[in-house]
Amino acid sequence: MKRICIIGISGKLGQYMAEHALSLGYEVNGVCRPESAHKLARFGDRIKLFPGSTDSRPTIARAVQGCDGVLTVLAPWGINNYASGTACAVLDSAEPDARLVFSCGWHITRDGKDRYSLKLKAIVAIFGGLARLVRAVDVKDQIRATNMIFASDRLWTVVRGSDLEEGESQGLPVWSRHVGDPVLASNLTRRTDFALFMVHALTDDRLIHEAPAIVGRASASARNHADRAASVPA
Ligand SMILES: NC(=O)c1ccc[n+]([C@@H]2O[C@H](COP(=O)([O-])OP(=O)(O)OC[C@H]3O[C@@H](n4cnc5c(N)ncnc54)[C@H](OP(=O)(O)O)[C@@H]3O)[C@@H](O)[C@H]2O)c1
Repeated sequence: MKRICIIGISGKLGQYMAEHALSLGYEVNGVCRPESAHKLARFGDRIKLFPGSTDSRPTIARAVQGCDGVLTVLAPWGINNYASGTACAVLDSAEPDARLVFSCGWHITRDGKDRYSLKLKAIVAIFGGLARLVRAVDVKDQIRATNMIFASDRLWTVVRGSDLEEGESQGLPVWSRHVGDPVLASNLTRRTDFALFMVHALTDDRLIHEAPAIVGRASASARNHADRAASVPA
């Protein structure tokens, strides 16, 4: 894998992904809103920028041309199908064999087998309802976007992030197929490590057609799980 594209590169997750990708030697294209391009000044000519909306098909088509992998930040902004428009543009425009990795949160479920705490259910219901009322966020559109990805036969991975915090990297997060699995109980990942996992997924074929829910490697639940695994006789 040589050249990749980051859709939504100017956000917090996007910038961390750019740093990890560059340090691994990838050539990096990026798409961000024109008014956000200044946030990427520190990268200089180390990235090739395609300013435009992430749901603009012409912009996405130009940006992903010749890319072996595409990392997409799926954000449910506004009420104009922004997330589903972005996902659709990437699925339709990326090179046929490109690895496509998308970000979202634990609230997205692939098979309905995730077990959510009452707290998480309440946050999604209250936050989702209020945000839609003020026309800021449309969580249902992020669900439409991921359902479209799950139904696609492209080489996709949907990475589902836990609650996030800033801070130094703790290494590659651990993952599980279902929210509610004990290893995920701590529900906390460093944002830089979320980005690390997204970049890692580009080359981990075991993650193709998976929707891993991730948690920080140094979190209590991940450490507890590792201790138990180590104490099981071979
Ligand atoms: N925040 C959390 O606690 C959390 C938890 C779990 C999973 N996640 C997932 O992590 C990913 C990144 O989330 P994040 O919270 O860390 O945010 P982020 O990385 O800062 O990304 C936000 C993205 O949305 C864009 N954006 C912001 N306002 C917009 C608007 N009005 N119209 C169009 N685009 C807009 C930003 O572009 P600009 O640079 O142009 O503003 C940026 O590309 C998402 O997929 C999210 O679902 C987040």
